[in-house]
Amino acid sequence: ALERTLSIIKPDAVAKNVIGEIYSRFEKAGLKVVAAKMKQLSRKEAEGFYAVHRERPFFNALVEFMISGPVMIQALEGENAVLKNRDLMGATDPKKAEAGTIRADFADSIDANAVHGSDAAETAAVEIAYFFSTTELCPR
Ligand code: CMP
Repeated sequence: ALERTLSIIKPDAVAKNVIGEIYSRFEKAGLKVVAAKMKQLSRKEAEGFYAVHRERPFFNALVEFMISGPVMIQALEGENAVLKNRDLMGATDPKKAEAGTIRADFADSIDANAVHGSDAAETAAVEIAYFFSTTELCPR
């Protein structure tokens, strides 16, 4: 099915200057950027975005990391976009990520892991709406 998913290029990958290389992987996989913005997240925005992880032991480190520098946020559209993007990203822990995935190539640790991607179509809708208003998204 034609889907949309939310992608975030995290502060580590922005600092490494690999936004273009990561966009190129999306494009080669047939994923289209249908909205994008670069942003320095506030603590409140990062905490709200990751609210489902609030009780997890890594929550504070995750929020600190996500506000440590600007991020590049995009909505991606394509056939099976959610799973396609997860395949491109590789495992959350870069040590476990398959060769050739974004995290294997650009991530340093489970915290500084280069990219975020929605885990399901339902969460994708919520995550896209968290960062983009309808007028900021390309019409379907
Ligand atoms: P992300 O896909 O952005 O969703 C939550 C983030 O928490 C995850 O990527 C990791 O960067 C980070 N994180 C840190 N420790 C863990 C862990 N043990 N399990 C899952 N995510 C973790």
